[in-house]
Amino acid sequence: MLEAQKFSVAYGAHRAVEGVTIRLGPGEVVAVLGANGAGKSSLLRGLMGLAPAQGRLLLEGEDVSFLAQRGLTEALVGRGLVLVPERGGVFRSLSVRENLLLGGYRTGEPPWRDIFSLFPALEARLGQRVGSMSGGEQRMVALARALAARPRYLLLDEPTLGLAPLLAKRLLATLKAFAAQGVGVLLVEQNAGLALQVAQRAYLLQEGRIVREGSAETLLHDPIVRQAYLGG
Ligand SMILES: Nc1ncnc2c1ncn2[C@@H]1O[C@H](COP(=O)(O)OP(=O)(O)O)[C@@H](O)[C@H]1O
Ligand SMILES: [Mg+2]
Repeated sequence: MLEAQKFSVAYGAHRAVEGVTIRLGPGEVVAVLGANGAGKSSLLRGLMGLAPAQGRLLLEGEDVSFLAQRGLTEALVGRGLVLVPERGGVFRSLSVRENLLLGGYRTGEPPWRDIFSLFPALEARLGQRVGSMSGGEQRMVALARALAARPRYLLLDEPTLGLAPLLAKRLLATLKAFAAQGVGVLLVEQNAGLALQVAQRAYLLQEGRIVREGSAETLLHDPIVRQAYLGG
């Protein structure tokens, strides 16, 4: 279980995330919804020690708050926390193979079989330079790279941003496959409709605070979610 308690992220006087409490279990897909500027990226970056964080962070019951608070990202990655950032997450000048090997540098050989079963298109393109691939393909490489690191908890920052609807749907479907392997997936999305199709639970973030939480089903029917994020 990944647990953040009263977790905050502040850039100087600007508090982007304020006292957020969230839980993510192994094998779960949990969505974090919210408008642009709500603090979604700050929350993920704070959990990884990549933004100035305060509050408690527990991993399998162990208090690892100091790792996030002191920016010890490497140590968090070593404990199975992996972030796919909003943009990038790949080395564009390197080949697909090199990207995946780098993703797995800590944990050894990437799980090739799993990666190819989720992203069959990548197998024939291992030698291709990632910078020459389409945006959607690069997203796949970023996800495959994260998988190569054998994450226990995978934090995804708007993985479908800029993707064609069909590709976005396919990509989110692969997250269910990640989760079926026991990975906990925290999915940040502006596209609430899509996110609630794959997530079991969700949190709604507004101005850095959680204003709603519950099952995907509950949030799908919540008036605030419907009005603000699902077009009424
Ligand atoms: N590095 C930063 N320095 C200062 N303010 C930031 C920084 N990153 C984000 N912010 C501010 O924090 C708030 C939340 O941003 P962000 O976490 O990116 O929201 P979201 O991902 O939900 O769009 C915004 O007001 C944004 O301007
Ligand atoms: Mg963001």
